[in-house]
Amino acid sequence: MIRSHIVGCGAYLPGNPVSNAELARRVDTSDEWIQQRTGITQRYLAADGELTSDLALQAAQRALDHAGMKASDIDLIVLGTATPDETFPATATKVQAGLGMTRGAAFDVQAVCSGFVYGLSVADSMMKNSMAQTALVIGAETFSRILDWNDRTTCVLFGDGAGAVVLQAGQGQGTPADRGVLSNILHSDGRHHDLLYVDGGPSTTQKAGFLRMQGKEVFKHAVTNLADVVGESLAAAGLTTADVDWIVPHQANKRILDGTARKLGMSHEKIVVTVDKHANTSAASIPLALAEAVADGRIKRGQVVLMEAMGGGLTWGASVTRW
Ligand code: UT7
Repeated sequence: MIRSHIVGCGAYLPGNPVSNAELARRVDTSDEWIQQRTGITQRYLAADGELTSDLALQAAQRALDHAGMKASDIDLIVLGTATPDETFPATATKVQAGLGMTRGAAFDVQAVCSGFVYGLSVADSMMKNSMAQTALVIGAETFSRILDWNDRTTCVLFGDGAGAVVLQAGQGQGTPADRGVLSNILHSDGRHHDLLYVDGGPSTTQKAGFLRMQGKEVFKHAVTNLADVVGESLAAAGLTTADVDWIVPHQANKRILDGTARKLGMSHEKIVVTVDKHANTSAASIPLALAEAVADGRIKRGQVVLMEAMGGGLTWGASVTRW
């Protein structure tokens, strides 16, 4: 059977890190509160005029370099983002043009913080249907543009960034021992819209709007939903938590990462954590964390890597890959 393999990773963080102490000079907050409640110490913020597509293009180029490939090798770009450059066209098409790629298809996936897991699932499914051979799956965000900088309950939590992987179609036996993407599980429940949303958009206010979140409620859903979907994705892959070498979660809050690991009975040492340095970069957080753990040699060939995320919608999902 066709199995898609991650053959390259790339990351891009804009500018210099902005510390909690720097934020505390313009918002009524403190380094102590942010670290205690979230584990965040700093975040990166895009410069004026630096767009989601600029971040995505850098990460994509780095993933191609890491894979030893050229843009002309790619026949699909799937970009997870909730902060597109424009209402339309898809930011993915700007990345396509930026790479000088003229064939194939490029489109955005909108699942907020679950955007990378959704994008990976879509690209993997297209490969399994022989609709693409080599894809870029990107998560890229400039959440700083949709933050209400007068709302301390949200503005301290997020950062900007982009991560990308190159996905290539290969062959497998259809067993849990295969290398490549072994399972994807996606969920959403639109009844929870009001827990995490942006109060604007083309059809409602004709303005981009600001992020609004009921943090405590989102937190409760996150720990339960993530533990459940991890179990589902492992069962679909024919594996158990004991088989997992690395969890690469969406990075919203260190307490959510720890709570989910505890609920699953998994060791904290298996979690790749970047929320401390990147804050919550929405769809970019998983590919940013992947790129880091691959570059520093933690993730090795043959190991089982579990990715999971939850975000606005609510949307959530998980993906199991043998590296
Ligand atoms: O990526 C998409 C998914 N998003 C998430 O997963 C986020 C999930 N939620 C969370 O991570 C947490 O709920 C937060 C980090 C957002 C908040 O942590 P919390 O422990 O739930 O705090 P809280 O909202 O209950 O606020 C506690 C107190 C409040 O003061 P009172 O009412 O107890 O006096 C807040 O006003 O902390 C206050 N507070 C702050 N204080 C200093 C809220 N934000 C701040 C702040 N600085 N930035």
